[in-house]
Amino acid sequence: MAVDSAGASVAERVRAVVEAHSTDRGALLPILHGIQAEFGYIDPEVVPILAAELNMSRADVHGVITFYSDFRSEPAGTATVRLCRAEACQSVGADKLVADAEQVFGVKVGQTTPDGSVTLDQVFCLGNCALGPAAQINGKMYGRVDRSRLVEILANGVQQ
Ligand code: FES
Repeated sequence: MAVDSAGASVAERVRAVVEAHSTDRGALLPILHGIQAEFGYIDPEVVPILAAELNMSRADVHGVITFYSDFRSEPAGTATVRLCRAEACQSVGADKLVADAEQVFGVKVGQTTPDGSVTLDQVFCLGNCALGPAAQINGKMYGRVDRSRLVEILANGVQQ
Protein backbone atom coordinates (compact mmCIF):
# COMPACT_ATOMS: atom_id res chain seq x y z
CA MET A 1 0.00 0.00 0.00
CA ALA A 2 3.04 2.27 -0.22
CA VAL A 3 2.00 4.02 -3.47
CA ASP A 4 -1.42 4.13 -5.13
CA SER A 5 -2.21 4.02 -8.84
CA ALA A 6 -2.06 7.80 -9.07
CA GLY A 7 1.46 7.77 -7.67
CA ALA A 8 0.63 9.38 -4.33
CA SER A 9 2.38 7.76 -1.41
CA VAL A 10 0.49 6.66 1.66
CA ALA A 11 2.32 9.30 3.65
CA GLU A 12 1.23 12.03 1.22
CA ARG A 13 -2.40 10.91 1.37
CA VAL A 14 -2.30 10.68 5.18
CA ARG A 15 -0.79 14.17 5.40
CA ALA A 16 -3.51 15.52 3.12
CA VAL A 17 -6.18 14.18 5.48
CA VAL A 18 -4.35 15.62 8.49
CA GLU A 19 -4.02 18.96 6.68
CA ALA A 20 -7.75 19.03 6.00
CA HIS A 21 -8.34 18.91 9.76
CA SER A 22 -5.54 21.25 10.78
CA THR A 23 -7.93 23.73 12.39
CA ASP A 24 -9.93 21.12 14.34
CA ARG A 25 -9.35 20.84 18.03
CA GLY A 26 -8.99 17.25 19.18
CA ALA A 27 -8.72 16.26 15.54
CA LEU A 28 -7.62 12.62 15.89
CA LEU A 29 -11.10 11.12 15.55
CA PRO A 30 -12.13 13.11 12.47
CA ILE A 31 -8.71 12.42 10.97
CA LEU A 32 -9.11 8.69 11.58
CA HIS A 33 -12.54 8.81 9.97
CA GLY A 34 -10.95 10.69 7.08
CA ILE A 35 -8.18 8.11 6.76
CA GLN A 36 -10.72 5.30 6.72
CA ALA A 37 -12.77 7.14 4.10
CA GLU A 38 -9.63 7.65 2.01
CA PHE A 39 -8.27 4.09 2.21
CA GLY A 40 -11.27 2.01 3.31
CA TYR A 41 -9.42 0.98 6.46
CA ILE A 42 -6.59 2.16 8.68
CA ASP A 43 -3.47 0.28 7.74
CA PRO A 44 -1.03 -0.19 10.65
CA GLU A 45 1.63 1.55 8.54
CA VAL A 46 -0.39 4.75 8.89
CA VAL A 47 0.01 4.84 12.68
CA PRO A 48 3.61 6.12 12.83
CA ILE A 49 2.88 8.72 10.14
CA LEU A 50 -0.12 10.02 12.09
CA ALA A 51 1.78 9.94 15.37
CA ALA A 52 4.54 12.07 13.86
CA GLU A 53 2.11 14.49 12.21
CA LEU A 54 0.06 14.96 15.38
CA ASN A 55 2.96 14.86 17.82
CA MET A 56 1.44 11.90 19.64
CA SER A 57 2.86 8.54 20.63
CA ARG A 58 2.21 5.57 18.36
CA ALA A 59 0.64 3.80 21.34
CA ASP A 60 -1.88 6.60 21.79
CA VAL A 61 -2.90 6.57 18.13
CA HIS A 62 -3.11 2.79 18.13
CA GLY A 63 -5.13 2.87 21.35
CA VAL A 64 -7.78 5.13 19.84
CA ILE A 65 -8.03 3.02 16.67
CA THR A 66 -8.56 -0.17 18.65
CA PHE A 67 -10.94 1.44 21.16
CA TYR A 68 -13.54 2.44 18.57
CA SER A 69 -15.18 -0.44 16.75
CA ASP A 70 -15.88 1.84 13.75
CA PHE A 71 -12.23 1.66 12.73
CA ARG A 72 -10.85 -1.37 10.96
CA SER A 73 -7.23 -2.33 10.44
CA GLU A 74 -7.76 -4.41 7.33
CA PRO A 75 -9.87 -4.03 4.20
CA ALA A 76 -13.57 -4.75 4.58
CA GLY A 77 -15.39 -7.35 2.52
CA THR A 78 -17.38 -6.54 -0.62
CA ALA A 79 -20.47 -6.19 1.57
CA THR A 80 -20.25 -4.67 5.03
CA VAL A 81 -23.20 -5.88 7.09
CA ARG A 82 -23.80 -3.87 10.24
CA LEU A 83 -26.44 -5.29 12.56
CA CYS A 84 -27.96 -3.17 15.30
CA ARG A 85 -27.75 -4.62 18.80
CA ALA A 86 -29.18 -1.72 20.76
CA GLU A 87 -32.18 -2.08 23.04
CA ALA A 88 -35.11 -1.53 20.65
CA CYS A 89 -33.71 -3.96 18.11
CA GLN A 90 -32.72 -6.42 20.80
CA SER A 91 -36.32 -6.52 21.99
CA VAL A 92 -37.44 -7.73 18.57
CA GLY A 93 -34.76 -10.33 17.90
CA ALA A 94 -31.46 -8.63 17.10
CA ASP A 95 -29.43 -11.16 19.08
CA LYS A 96 -30.97 -14.01 17.13
CA LEU A 97 -30.27 -12.17 13.88
CA VAL A 98 -26.62 -11.76 14.86
CA ALA A 99 -26.37 -15.47 15.73
CA ASP A 100 -28.05 -16.36 12.43
CA ALA A 101 -25.71 -14.07 10.49
CA GLU A 102 -22.66 -15.59 12.17
CA GLN A 103 -23.93 -19.03 11.19
CA VAL A 104 -24.82 -18.04 7.62
CA PHE A 105 -21.48 -16.30 6.93
CA GLY A 106 -19.33 -18.56 9.09
CA VAL A 107 -17.63 -15.63 10.83
CA LYS A 108 -18.00 -13.82 14.13
CA VAL A 109 -18.93 -10.17 14.50
CA GLY A 110 -15.93 -8.05 13.53
CA GLN A 111 -14.63 -10.59 11.03
CA THR A 112 -14.59 -10.88 7.25
CA THR A 113 -15.35 -14.08 5.37
CA PRO A 114 -12.23 -15.78 3.95
CA ASP A 115 -13.41 -15.05 0.40
CA GLY A 116 -13.71 -11.34 1.22
CA SER A 117 -17.39 -11.21 0.32
CA VAL A 118 -18.85 -10.13 3.68
CA THR A 119 -17.69 -8.24 6.74
CA LEU A 120 -20.01 -8.67 9.71
CA ASP A 121 -20.16 -5.79 12.19
CA GLN A 122 -22.39 -4.79 15.04
CA VAL A 123 -23.57 -1.29 15.82
CA PHE A 124 -25.55 0.23 18.65
CA CYS A 125 -28.47 2.05 17.05
CA LEU A 126 -28.83 2.94 13.42
CA GLY A 127 -31.66 5.37 14.06
CA ASN A 128 -34.13 2.91 12.57
CA CYS A 129 -35.49 1.71 15.91
CA ALA A 130 -39.15 1.44 14.89
CA LEU A 131 -38.23 -1.05 12.18
CA GLY A 132 -36.01 -3.39 14.11
CA PRO A 133 -34.15 -5.56 13.81
CA ALA A 134 -32.30 -2.99 11.75
CA ALA A 135 -29.34 -3.55 9.48
CA GLN A 136 -27.14 -1.38 7.31
CA ILE A 137 -25.50 -3.00 4.33
CA ASN A 138 -22.91 -0.96 2.45
CA GLY A 139 -24.51 2.17 3.87
CA LYS A 140 -28.09 1.30 2.90
CA MET A 141 -30.64 0.86 5.69
CA TYR A 142 -32.91 -2.15 6.04
CA GLY A 143 -35.65 -2.78 8.59
CA ARG A 144 -37.42 -5.86 9.97
CA VAL A 145 -34.47 -7.99 8.98
CA ASP A 146 -34.43 -11.67 9.78
CA ARG A 147 -32.26 -14.51 8.59
CA SER A 148 -34.09 -15.12 5.32
CA ARG A 149 -34.34 -11.42 4.47
CA LEU A 150 -30.63 -10.95 5.16
CA VAL A 151 -29.76 -13.85 2.87
CA GLU A 152 -32.14 -12.51 0.22
CA ILE A 153 -30.68 -8.99 0.34
CA LEU A 154 -27.16 -10.31 -0.15
CA ALA A 155 -28.24 -12.79 -2.82
CA ASN A 156 -29.74 -9.91 -4.79
CA GLY A 157 -26.40 -8.14 -4.73
CA VAL A 158 -25.46 -5.02 -2.82
CA GLN A 159 -24.12 -1.79 -4.15
CA GLN A 160 -20.54 -0.88 -3.40
S1 FES B 1 -32.11 0.33 18.41
FE1 FES B 1 -31.72 -0.56 16.49
S2 FES B 1 -31.89 1.08 15.12
FE2 FES B 1 -32.14 2.00 17.07
